[in-house]
Amino acid sequence: MAAGQWVFLGDEKLADSVPLPKIPPVHSQHYHPIPMQGEVGCHFSYITENATDLFHADLHQSAQPWANPQLLSLKSNLRTVNAIYEVDTPRLLAALISHPGKNRVHVMYEYPYFHLWSEDGAFYLFVVYVPTAPQRTWVYSTFYFRHVWGMPWILKLLHPILDRGTFRQVFAEDIHAVQEEQRAYNLHSQDLSRETNPVSHAVRKVILNQTDGQQPLTCEPFVYQGKPV
Ligand SMILES: [Fe+2]
Repeated sequence: MAAGQWVFLGDEKLADSVPLPKIPPVHSQHYHPIPMQGEVGCHFSYITENATDLFHADLHQSAQPWANPQLLSLKSNLRTVNAIYEVDTPRLLAALISHPGKNRVHVMYEYPYFHLWSEDGAFYLFVVYVPTAPQRTWVYSTFYFRHVWGMPWILKLLHPILDRGTFRQVFAEDIHAVQEEQRAYNLHSQDLSRETNPVSHAVRKVILNQTDGQQPLTCEPFVYQGKPV
């Protein structure tokens, strides 16, 4: 990275052999970064699953950046999940930073990193979830937006609106939802939720595999397009 330091999350003996995540807009002059961070009172699996599940757009009534999500494809293994959704961009903001109508959004979870980007290159989101306690997670995220009409001053001007007016509002809604999920787990001493999005099942499987079973979410067999997730 141009500035700052990268902290390897894991066994330090593996730090040189595990490749760093690739975040294409970091090396581009054509994107405006909007960083955001904060603590969430839940196990990291809840907030990870929330981020990868674009079916929960209804939660964000106030600042909904897309609607009518459809899952187009899903590929996963024991370390990585790759999904493509198609979404509508109903709001002026989404039309400004992307294009009106249908947009394809890619989601990649490569444990422990989360990437989300629009196929047309309009934006890219990179997130790291760092567990600070069994039920606390620090979220480091950066949204990269491609300059509107190639003019950097436009996003500089919109930065406070995007940051405080939209992202922090969306983040607060996500925090509320996942903390409620954690509260439900604590209440029942088990995960009673049943997910309908195959992406969530693939994400649960990756976390289960990467943490040697140390996750609260239930992992159950799930079939997508005739194949087990
Ligand atoms: Fe959300």
